[in-house]
Amino acid sequence: MNPLERSPDEYRAVFQRITDLSLTLLNELRERPTFPQISGEQSLDRFQHPLPEQGFGQAALDDLQAVIDASRLPNPRFFGYVLGSGEPIAASADMLASVLNQNVTAWRSGPAAVVIEKTAVGWLAQALGCQEFVGSLTGGGSSANLMALAMARESRITANEKGVTVRGTLYASAQAHMSIPKAVALLGIGRQQLRLGPCDADHRIRLDLLRRALDEDRRAGLTPLAIVGSAGTVSTGSIDPLRDLATVAREAGAWFHVDGAFGALAAIARPELFDGLALADSISLDPHKWLYQPLDCGCVLYRDRDIARKTFSFTGDYAKSLLDDPLESFTFFDETIELSRRFRALKLWLSLRYHGFSAFRQAIQQDLQLAAELAQLIDAHPSLERLAPVPLSAVCFRFIPPAANLGATRLNELNLQLMNRLQRGGRVYLSNATLDGRFALRACIVNHRTTRADIEAVVEEVIKVGSEILAEA
Ligand SMILES: Cc1ncc(COP(=O)(O)O)c(C=O)c1O
Repeated sequence: MNPLERSPDEYRAVFQRITDLSLTLLNELRERPTFPQISGEQSLDRFQHPLPEQGFGQAALDDLQAVIDASRLPNPRFFGYVLGSGEPIAASADMLASVLNQNVTAWRSGPAAVVIEKTAVGWLAQALGCQEFVGSLTGGGSSANLMALAMARESRITANEKGVTVRGTLYASAQAHMSIPKAVALLGIGRQQLRLGPCDADHRIRLDLLRRALDEDRRAGLTPLAIVGSAGTVSTGSIDPLRDLATVAREAGAWFHVDGAFGALAAIARPELFDGLALADSISLDPHKWLYQPLDCGCVLYRDRDIARKTFSFTGDYAKSLLDDPLESFTFFDETIELSRRFRALKLWLSLRYHGFSAFRQAIQQDLQLAAELAQLIDAHPSLERLAPVPLSAVCFRFIPPAANLGATRLNELNLQLMNRLQRGGRVYLSNATLDGRFALRACIVNHRTTRADIEAVVEEVIKVGSEILAEA
């Protein structure tokens, strides 16, 4: 027998143990710290083991508890970054997806997987009011943005064969996510060709300045390739005026991409916030953020499959589909970056079918409501200052005790110190943003486990830790 083959009983024992560990973790999640009590050095000691020439068998599983204990868990008081909470029904499907090991390259490699992915993507498009869009699941918003901007480039200046020979420009706001400049660089356009325009007081792109930049570039003989709008900026959740951006893009002959990795899925609960979303040429969204899916599960939507194929299709003879049937000859690899692709759709499909779409809508509504309530708690507190509007579920604020009378630099230092101590303390986890030179604590609520008591804990902990730091000074 091949040494990798094991008996059904042995597999059952291993799967059962992993199931038990997962279920115990889920039961304990609320009581566990939001950050593990571990230093960098300790994490090396614990996991940097030598390559095992001989296997440990089931004893290898003994170390999984240590992995859990050293993990930053999807606790209800984790508010850092934009990270969904890992819905457990979806997580269970990931196990089956790995056992099935479908390679979602083409229908012939995974008939069920291809149809399920197309179905789940169709559901997402429909939920956003973009039913005429098609697309695929990606590793996340960054790869969705890269794919979208690759399509934008190819639709405007056909660079795939000869490279980028035309000087083209892209436009986004200064609040655009870092994956946008990264994509522009990777596509050979050059980051200097990306105009990151100023925002208004609500952190939305200034249309007047965008128009001016377009005019100046046109006079300089540059070709506008794409305008990128944000449907939820990473720092504050601000939503650019999408309908206006669509008009500006159309007038300029540019592709219109919407980066909705953080916010677009909130259109399920609050469609009126996203007016103009359906006018985009492409949209990025991230079910692993605000649809609570376990990583990874991003999505890119676009309206023109031919442009996707023009951009991504370089099929070698070994991969060409030799089937005639239009369904059976379908290939994802002709419209994506990846060839081998995991069965990401199974978890999404299962959890949507298990809970029903209305449960997700309610969960998003609850997150939005909790964010609004956190903003109210902050506004009502004399030692806290909110630093941005809260259109979605990111709340930016700082600790600013009135009696302490601190200058701008000291306030920034104090809040940085506060955030570091909060994160290590393990009771609530906040991340940060910099807004107009001010260091902000940032709580982002995209977690179906979070309750009112958890957001009250944000205020309590910030005041407690902030006061401790001041008392030590
Ligand atoms: C607005 C926005 N775009 C893109 C991304 C990148 O998404 P991912 O981390 O899934 O690559 C993020 C991540 O937070 C985001 O907030």
